[in-house]
Amino acid sequence: MDRKVSELLNEQVNKEFYSAYLYLDMANFYSAKGLDGFANWYEIQAKEEQDHAMLFYQYLHNNSQPVTLEAIGKPDKVYESLMDPLTAALAHEQYVTSLINAIYAAAQAANDFRTIQFLDWFVKEQGEEEKNSSDMITKMELFGSDPKGLYMLNSELSGRTYSAPSLVL
Ligand code: FEO
Repeated sequence: MDRKVSELLNEQVNKEFYSAYLYLDMANFYSAKGLDGFANWYEIQAKEEQDHAMLFYQYLHNNSQPVTLEAIGKPDKVYESLMDPLTAALAHEQYVTSLINAIYAAAQAANDFRTIQFLDWFVKEQGEEEKNSSDMITKMELFGSDPKGLYMLNSELSGRTYSAPSLVL
């Protein structure tokens, strides 16, 4: 495998684990506010990010590439309003999309068609991740300022259940 592609894939293991940590911190924030539905949403989001990390890890191993595990950064964002994590989540997903695109571009430059195929799932997934984040902001704008609306939204989010990623290596 091209060295640059391998390095970027390895870095993505760390980025995805950081994403999990970031979302767990958001769950932590909402949990402290008594919003268990929002906390549930982000706990599941954190699990999905761990799955993403493991897919990159497994893909590298399947292709006999070395994996180096680096320290995971501290999630140090300070949230003041209930909206803050939602806007931070959208910005973060847009950032992750840019990372996936950069790996994709490197794989294209190296004619690494196998990695391109592997990344196709993530390109689609990022579209969903950005849409989900953006929908959360819209819902909060519509209902969040009204206590009854917030209660209903929290109840809706408590219904999210975890399912394993559809990509199997
Ligand atoms: Fe792993 Fe939320 O993208």
